[in-house]
Amino acid sequence: MFAQVLSAAPYGIEARLIEVQCDVGPGLPGFAIVGLPEKEVSEARERVRSAIRNAGLSFPQLRITANLAPADLRKEGAGFDLALAVALLVATGQVAPEASAGTLFVGELALDGGLRPVRGMLAMALAAREAGVRRAVVAVPSAPEAGLVDGIAVHPVASLGEAVAFLRGERAIPPVPRTVPEEEPPDWIDLSLVRGQEHARRALEIAAAGAHHVLMVGPPGAGKSLLAKCLPGILPLLTFDEALEVTRIHSVAGLLSPERPLLRRRPFRSPHHTVSYAGMVGGGHGIPSPGEITLAHHGVLFLDELPEFDRKVLEALRQPLEERRITVVRAGTSVTFPASFMLVGAMNPCPCGHLGDPLRPCRCRPHEVAGYRKRLSGPFLDRVDLFVQVPRLTREELLAEGGGEPSEAVRRRVEGARDVQRSRFGARGGTNAELSPKEVQRWCALTPEGRSLLARAVDHFALTGRGYVRTLKVARTIADLAASATIGPEHVAEALQYRAFPEEVLL
Ligand SMILES: Nc1ncnc2c1ncn2[C@@H]1O[C@H](COP(=O)(O)OP(=O)(O)OP(=O)(O)O)[C@@H](O)[C@H]1O
Ligand SMILES: [Mg+2]
Repeated sequence: MFAQVLSAAPYGIEARLIEVQCDVGPGLPGFAIVGLPEKEVSEARERVRSAIRNAGLSFPQLRITANLAPADLRKEGAGFDLALAVALLVATGQVAPEASAGTLFVGELALDGGLRPVRGMLAMALAAREAGVRRAVVAVPSAPEAGLVDGIAVHPVASLGEAVAFLRGERAIPPVPRTVPEEEPPDWIDLSLVRGQEHARRALEIAAAGAHHVLMVGPPGAGKSLLAKCLPGILPLLTFDEALEVTRIHSVAGLLSPERPLLRRRPFRSPHHTVSYAGMVGGGHGIPSPGEITLAHHGVLFLDELPEFDRKVLEALRQPLEERRITVVRAGTSVTFPASFMLVGAMNPCPCGHLGDPLRPCRCRPHEVAGYRKRLSGPFLDRVDLFVQVPRLTREELLAEGGGEPSEAVRRRVEGARDVQRSRFGARGGTNAELSPKEVQRWCALTPEGRSLLARAVDHFALTGRGYVRTLKVARTIADLAASATIGPEHVAEALQYRAFPEEVLL
């Protein structure tokens, strides 16, 4: 007999629906799986066989052929196990075909028949809904994640036996309620703990408001890493759609915990400087998996000790820094991942870290300083929107009573500026950093004084075309923070403070 059951597989950060077909007929007993399965899928035979027997069901001594369609798609992982088992049970008359129709089955079987969760559940549930599927049977720990998707009844089962009892109508398993989880507890550092560094605090506020890229330069112990860690606290929460997108990415990467099925906070990724090329941009064996830049989508990518990163890895960021997505090609498979992140870099001005400090002489030789800076290419630096100097704290700043403004107050201003930007972009949402050339023309209107100041700056700062547009966008954000519809000279002047050519910042 022939049977067909619906399953799905993550593909990149999306998912594809897979038809699991099963044919059972006379012939030499055996169990073959065809349809481009990778090793884990082929091993499903053993898991399905044991699970069916251990669930007290019968495994036929017949010739069994299972096909995973579409056949041209590479299949990885153990998520098809449940669908394979159900298809086999339908084909052998142990489950009625109507019971499994129109239902998505996802889960890995253990030998004893128990069901385990698989990564990418959210992406699979979204793909299923898109295809009009209204019911899913998944492993218990996957249920809250699948249950985030509106319009699908998600039935959690702990084992194959339970799934079969449910399908036969012997056991009622109500669908999980669709709950939007509570907000996560704060785990960032509060800005009120940062002493001094008014200039850098303001720069971070502007960067957060418009999702601009920042580079902080200063001596050791000035507070660069500390400031960066404050960022999550001043960024607005994700919208629900953004949260689904971010959660889907983390789910596919296997980074989602069942206790927190929906990520509400903007991601803050701080990979170590030894991160590999694939770890940063995505790739790996088989179907490419998302890298740090995609895990940082809608959030922050913090690169501490920037010049220590492999130059090849940094250069690979050039394209996603502008296009906000990355295409990874591997062994004939090409996947495009979103990568709209805010880059925050931190570095010392020289290897010893004290160059430019009047009280701490720099011990580096000129060629050492030059070699250190050469690790960052001109094109890479040209993509930075705000260069920020973070000097050593003065005695007064160190000993001052009380801290600075708390994160909460800054976040409210950032949210205000983001609201203005949202009204600009309409339904698709977006930030000033993402304005297209046409939108820059439409939305970044300068007053005559603002225009003439910016014109003078082109020569003074030797601005490139890109530098010019980036300055204009930062000025737009500064004006948004001030609730000003047009961009005046005061906004341009402040944007230019952060545009000081890198050479000058570094000296
Ligand atoms: N501006 C500051 N306000 C309050 N504490 C600070 C400040 N700067 C530094 N500190 C204290 O010093 C510690 C080290 O600072 P941080 O790691 O941010 O320095 P850094 O600028 O990143 O230095 P490095 O260049 O060596 O990485 C912080 O954890 C904090 O305790
Ligand atoms: Mg640091």
